[in-house]
Amino acid sequence: MSKNSKSVVFSGVQPTGNLHLGNYLGAIKNFVNLQKKMECIYCIVDLHAITVFQDPKELKKNILDTTAGFVACGLDFKKSIIFNQSSVSGHSELAWILNCVSRVGWMNRMTQFKEKAGKNKENASVGLYVYPNLMAADILLYKSTHVPVGDDQKQHLELARDIAQKFNNDFKVNNFFPIPEPLIQKKLSRVMSLRDGTKKMSKSEESNYSRIDLQDSADEINKKIKKAKTDSLPIPGNIEELKNRPEALNLLNIYSFITNSDLEKILENMAGKDFSKFKNELSDALVATICPIGKKIKELKNDRKYLMRILKEGSNKAGIIAKENLDKVKEIVGFISH
Ligand code: TRP
Repeated sequence: MSKNSKSVVFSGVQPTGNLHLGNYLGAIKNFVNLQKKMECIYCIVDLHAITVFQDPKELKKNILDTTAGFVACGLDFKKSIIFNQSSVSGHSELAWILNCVSRVGWMNRMTQFKEKAGKNKENASVGLYVYPNLMAADILLYKSTHVPVGDDQKQHLELARDIAQKFNNDFKVNNFFPIPEPLIQKKLSRVMSLRDGTKKMSKSEESNYSRIDLQDSADEINKKIKKAKTDSLPIPGNIEELKNRPEALNLLNIYSFITNSDLEKILENMAGKDFSKFKNELSDALVATICPIGKKIKELKNDRKYLMRILKEGSNKAGIIAKENLDKVKEIVGFISH
């Protein structure tokens, strides 16, 4: 398939250290597919990370580990642009300009800020508050047309669309920024915790048993799946019957995604089966896919030079596009460039 030159895919991933199954199935696996069809830019968003305090040594390590994870999962730095956000200064520069386009009323509607800041709103960083404007800058800096995002980022993408529209209107530059479209995976927009099927699988959940890390051993994967929460009913024959069974749905969804097969078909074949038996098959499928990725991550982590080279190459490529677009933005806004 030839790449569609008018489409630009952009997405960002936080450098949180060890990537887990949710990162892989919910995002990176899709990134790998997209790079075959479109121009793709994948950014490790270190500027976003520091909206809550990060230990500097940890942050550096996490950026490199995330890079290793990207490559181990199949992202190809020759096909896609892979880089860390802070190395292209255009992100911060455009974010400031967009801070002045975006409205306080819009910010105040952002549910993720409310969740993250919680009761401690007065003590949250200002960065955390304007984080969605930086995300809009990430996307618009490359005039991106498509943004693969999970459920939890839909509202931020809506905001990026509003900001793009307002910029185009305010400065009377129709179509300058394309209005970015979300790319939401139809079948699976999130992998849920193995302990609670209503919560997203997350690095921040305390129990290790809630998630599968990409570097888990076969033993660990088996143990975690064995312990994963289910209910007492067998596998039903149709999706409808999974409605109020979040844990059962989650495990079946994971199986469907990891084996690239339709959930409907799986249910047809497995209806009536006990979850304990199904769990064995799920573990086998996970081990077959995840363990080779984990092994590759471990190898790559030992090759810091190679990881640095990937980020440098990506930053150079991203920097060229960013500069061209940012120069135009500055001209539109009325700045004088030298
Ligand atoms: N906010 C996103 C998250 O927490 C990460 C992100 C930053 C992003 N910039 C982006 C995602 C631009 C898509 C596009 O997951």
